[in-house]
Amino acid sequence: MSQQSVVMTGASGFIGARFQAALLENDRSVTAIIRPSSPNLGRLSPACTIVRSDLHDKEQLASACSQADAVIYCAGTVRGRGPGDFNAANVKGVAHLVGALNHSGSQIPFLLISSLAAARPEISDYAQSKFLGEKELTSQANFPWTIFRPPAVYGPGDTEMRPFLRMARRGLVTRLGPSDQRLSLLNVDDLSDAVIAWLDSWRKCQGQTFTLDDGRPGGYDWQAIAAAAGYGRHFLLGIPRPLLSVAATANMALSAVFNYPPMLTPGKVRELTQTDWICDNTRLTQATGWEPSTDLQTGIRQMFGDA
Ligand SMILES: NC(=O)c1ccc[n+]([C@@H]2O[C@H](COP(=O)([O-])OP(=O)(O)OC[C@H]3O[C@@H](n4cnc5c(N)ncnc54)[C@H](OP(=O)(O)O)[C@@H]3O)[C@@H](O)[C@H]2O)c1
Repeated sequence: MSQQSVVMTGASGFIGARFQAALLENDRSVTAIIRPSSPNLGRLSPACTIVRSDLHDKEQLASACSQADAVIYCAGTVRGRGPGDFNAANVKGVAHLVGALNHSGSQIPFLLISSLAAARPEISDYAQSKFLGEKELTSQANFPWTIFRPPAVYGPGDTEMRPFLRMARRGLVTRLGPSDQRLSLLNVDDLSDAVIAWLDSWRKCQGQTFTLDDGRPGGYDWQAIAAAAGYGRHFLLGIPRPLLSVAATANMALSAVFNYPPMLTPGKVRELTQTDWICDNTRLTQATGWEPSTDLQTGIRQMFGDA
């Protein structure tokens, strides 16, 4: 059997870089579609074929996918001031790639890495963009598609959760949500394994949207996160929502002055303060046989190199 050839977007990102490594380790060839302005080419393996193309160049997108056996869309924007910042990668890029594949009559399977946030489009510009990206795929694609909606993902290469987890390992846990909040989490290498399982079983997944997490039923409360991260006693510091909101408003103003894409925004505060973000693996496991293997304690220890 010839080697399966996978085209992916977002290979230079935190999650995409791990996918790329897992695909190569599992004997797939990888073609990475990377925007010409990417500052992260160093994250790409020399074993990848690189296509330098913006996500709006339908001709180049179609050409990059012409010999592929599968497409994985993992590009995305997780920081921004408004819809315009999120839409280029989260909505329009999906629409253009779907349009390019439709135009070429492609029938190869397509996996979209969306987010649990897509289920609550009203809470933030990010959530709305993930919802709209899914809609572009589900309403337009003339080829078999699958959507993964992961919760917060952590692991090697992550810059968003790392500072929080580093502090938690030293015993200080900053609780950003309500005290009764419950959160599903997922190690990036388990997510990569789920993608490999999908490649093997995409026919059983087509036309479906799956949530997936590390298998802890009902997710984690903050005590459990603190216990998994630390080595002994810990202190849980609850950040009041009004304080988070003030910080988010100030960050929006500063980001406009200093021209950087903000992570903490009023929309992010609404995401952080939801009472739950919970996944259930049952359907994905039934369809593909995939099961996560890394609990939070092990995952954090591996991330910081002490496992
Ligand atoms: N991290 C999480 O906890 C989490 C949870 C659930 C879902 N997700 C989803 O997973 C995906 C990847 O997230 P991540 O954490 O890996 O993000 P990341 O580290 O910021 O990586 C984003 C990737 O998307 C590419 N990209 C961004 N804007 C682009 C554009 N306009 N055109 C072309 N490429 C663009 C980036 O390329 P450059 O190198 O050019 O910047 C990079 O490869 C996103 O769709 C995100 O919504 C993430």
